[in-house]
Amino acid sequence: MPLVKVAELSALPPGTLMEALVGEDSYAICNLNGAIHALDGICPHAGGPLGQGELRGAHIVCPWHAWEWNCQTGVNTDDEDQAVHTIPVKIDGNDIFLDLP
Ligand code: FES
Repeated sequence: MPLVKVAELSALPPGTLMEALVGEDSYAICNLNGAIHALDGICPHAGGPLGQGELRGAHIVCPWHAWEWNCQTGVNTDDEDQAVHTIPVKIDGNDIFLDLP
């Protein structure tokens, strides 16, 4: 699987969330207490841009209808049967890479 640089660590302080675009695909990347996690950027509910949402504790809040997704596991907070795909992350110095399929 190719590693793709998507952002610089210095642009993602603890407690923040960002959207990264790779071609036509988007990803939601969060910094949870210094640990970087990534999810697919499209909300399974109706396609909202998760990376443009809000990081509330360990949860990404979708900007469209406020469904919440655990940024570490991708699991929905109200329905454990629903989840966003997680994406492996690699950090090298100040660079954030995603391990994309
Ligand atoms: S599209 Fe994300 S909560 Fe509706």
